[in-house]
Amino acid sequence: MRYSTAIVGAIAFYASEVVAFPAAAIQHAANAERDAAASRIIEGAVAKFNRKRQASNPGFNAAAQYVSTSGEYEFVAPDIAGGDNRGPCPGLNAMANHGYIPHNGVATIEEFIEGTYTVFGMGKDLGGFLGLYGALIDGNGAEWSIGGPTSAIGATLGLLGVPQGISGSHNKYESDVSPTRGDLYEYGNDYTVQVSQFQQMFDLQSDAATANYDLSVLTPFRAARFQQSMENNPYFFNGPFSGVAVQPAAYTFIYRFMGNKSAEYPEGILNQDVLKSFFSITGDSGDFTYTEGYERIPENWYKRAIGDEYTIPFFLTDLIAAAEEYPQFLDIGGNTGTVNTFTGVELTNLTGGVFDGATLLEGNNLECFVFQTIQNLLPDLVRSLITDVAGAQSALDNELGTIIDMSTCPQLASYDVSQFAQFPGSTGVAS
Ligand code: HEM
Ligand SMILES: *[C@@H]1O[C@H](CO)[C@@H](O)[C@H](O)[C@H]1NC(C)=O
Ligand SMILES: *[C@@H]1O[C@H](CO)[C@@H](O)[C@H](O)[C@H]1NC(C)=O
Repeated sequence: MRYSTAIVGAIAFYASEVVAFPAAAIQHAANAERDAAASRIIEGAVAKFNRKRQASNPGFNAAAQYVSTSGEYEFVAPDIAGGDNRGPCPGLNAMANHGYIPHNGVATIEEFIEGTYTVFGMGKDLGGFLGLYGALIDGNGAEWSIGGPTSAIGATLGLLGVPQGISGSHNKYESDVSPTRGDLYEYGNDYTVQVSQFQQMFDLQSDAATANYDLSVLTPFRAARFQQSMENNPYFFNGPFSGVAVQPAAYTFIYRFMGNKSAEYPEGILNQDVLKSFFSITGDSGDFTYTEGYERIPENWYKRAIGDEYTIPFFLTDLIAAAEEYPQFLDIGGNTGTVNTFTGVELTNLTGGVFDGATLLEGNNLECFVFQTIQNLLPDLVRSLITDVAGAQSALDNELGTIIDMSTCPQLASYDVSQFAQFPGSTGVAS
């Protein structure tokens, strides 16, 4: 496909780093308690990654990191009733409100890559992967909506009818246990902020003078939200891609992207006002008002340093560190129709005997599992959504193949999604 060269090129740039990236760390991510050595391996890998970052010392460059919110980038409120699309992603909503992607909330893969890099310093490997996945799962193969279905994307042949946008991608992209958005089957809506959840996050740093919503508070918040879903959502489902790989992004992106960078704090400080602005919240604590789709980039706000982009390896480092602390994050499964019935699937059964709980933690297996899951679930989805099946599939295969050397993965002959039948909330994970 047209875009695949640019994306694959960007990913190739990082590929050596990804492959060098701690397969050894991943292998032990979920069983830290069981294996004392695991912590040391993971800490070593994370420390190595961080040393490498610091050695490159991108520092702070105000002119290069300043993000304009004036002129063509001035905030313009969306007209949602009039057809502008806004959805579960505060970063993308803010980009559309400030004209960094089209104001109607429908953009091409290239526009997502450029926009996320320009506004937030997202690595082009990560932007490319997320953008392409969105186009395949939620769009027409080339562009997609950051909200729901829209007439801005022309009629597309497909079994599922028109593309559903990311708001309509529950279990495919959109996941349970989001920080501020409710679980779909708990609230009947997965894309608007539940003020109670925002309040809970806000309260993690209640002193305005010192507040900094970094991963040291956001990761325990994720564990608390995970527990809430088990206890309150009879249809809670922690999917193999949406739960294992997207859910962590919904938390790490908050600090990694929204934090305001400065010479003094090159990693960023995410204070209460900036948090509220990006989540479209006004008013005082205890009496917050949420306005759907009004996410704003704050005035005088600075993005990630040039050269310190949040890339796939960087994201994986954060994902693993979180899973080391809370191994349940990697449990694929869900409630079986009533609350507090969380049941994990046997990986052996899911993967035709190729992976099991023990071997998942060896070698490249966890990485292989996540990427092979995408490959195995995708063909049906793609077939139902777009016409250029072969082209889209090979673009994704290229991309996954470059992110990870798939030839080193155990061969996954079958992927038995009937395992998910026991979870009434798993609808949509495969089609
Ligand atoms: C092309 C790039 C991107 C794609 C495809 C994407 C897609 C998504 C999707 C599907 C969700 C819903 C996940 C869930 O159910 O929890 C989401 C949530 C989220 N995204 Fe993005 N996103 C992108 C870029 C960004 C950027 C640049 C930011 C920067 C701040 C961001 C911040 C977030 C946050 C914080 C959430 C969780 C919202 C909440 O529940 O409170 N995303 N995104
Ligand atoms: C970001 O940090 C700089 C330097 O401390 C400060 O001048 C600016 O006001 C901050 N921006 C926001 C939105 O807090
Ligand atoms: C896995 O498959 C075996 C053999 O068919 C079965 O006995 C077992 O109950 C299955 N486990 C789960 C969790 O479905």
